[in-house]
Amino acid sequence: MRRHRAAYCAPHFLEFFEAQVHRAITTQRMFRPGERILVAVSGGKDSLALWEILLRRGDDATGLHVDLGIDDYSQESRERTEEFARARGARLIVVELRAEYGMDIGTLAEGSGRAPCSACGLSKRYLFNKLARDGDFTAVATGHNLDDEAAVLLGNLLHWNMDQLARQAPVLEQTHPHLVRRVKPLYRTSERESAAYALLRGIDYVIEECPHSRGARSLLHKDVLNRLEAASAGTKQAFYWGFLDRLAPVLRAGGPPPVLRPCGQCDQPTTEEVCAFCRMTARAAARQSARASSLP
Ligand code: AMP
Ligand code: FES
Ligand code: ZN
Repeated sequence: MRRHRAAYCAPHFLEFFEAQVHRAITTQRMFRPGERILVAVSGGKDSLALWEILLRRGDDATGLHVDLGIDDYSQESRERTEEFARARGARLIVVELRAEYGMDIGTLAEGSGRAPCSACGLSKRYLFNKLARDGDFTAVATGHNLDDEAAVLLGNLLHWNMDQLARQAPVLEQTHPHLVRRVKPLYRTSERESAAYALLRGIDYVIEECPHSRGARSLLHKDVLNRLEAASAGTKQAFYWGFLDRLAPVLRAGGPPPVLRPCGQCDQPTTEEVCAFCRMTARAAARQSARASSLP
């Protein structure tokens, strides 16, 4: 691990990785022992590694998997997640987009005019909060790692997305009674370290990437950062942690978070009268029924 000028044997690497996650949770005050945590689990290395660590720490951690209906990719992701839960006797909630809303990511994206990754991101954020509220969880934990966060930061800076920059943090506090706190306990560790951890713990995860991610901007940003990291170890960490230390507090001091109110249709928090998820599903449903009625 060049950025730490360290090389570990397997048992010490496991100890190192778990200590990093523990440190993230305690120093950022993500949650306290005994809180009910909902872990969003995709079936990939990061979220399964995170769930494993929370269970080992003795946290009250229930998994939530969203079946997005993206062909073989979703089927395999769901299977890996269910196998993991079964083997550990862990509680898992599975939400199937098609069964709940009559549409999968493909039809939602097409019907609403959004790109699949945008429809998917919106659906996941919405469902994480909804399921957390329905189940009385106090925090939602996701497997976003250092590489993910650094790439998002680069994208936000390149486009000067000031609102998103002000909200980019390892902990998003509850700013409305209907909004559940969101935490990212893997923000200190890299993608490669999650993969090593999963491998050493014998976790069977989905290796294949989502077919919609091909050519995605986020992958380009990750690639650029990896090249910088290869030339100078520690760049990625200095970039993201430096942002958290120096710029994030300035941006947060710049103004209060946006005012939220309950969506007129589903009661989830939103800045508009009707939330973006309800608008997207309504548009896609209207398109679907218009199509059905135009059939001979
Ligand atoms: P991604 O946006 O695919 O990089 O995923 C980031 C994080 O979101 C993962 O580490 C998971 O915690 C969560 N996540 C992604 N996809 C799903 C899914 N289908 N079901 C539940 N959680 C997910
Ligand atoms: Fe959501 Fe690929 S995982 S579009
Ligand atoms: Zn709504």
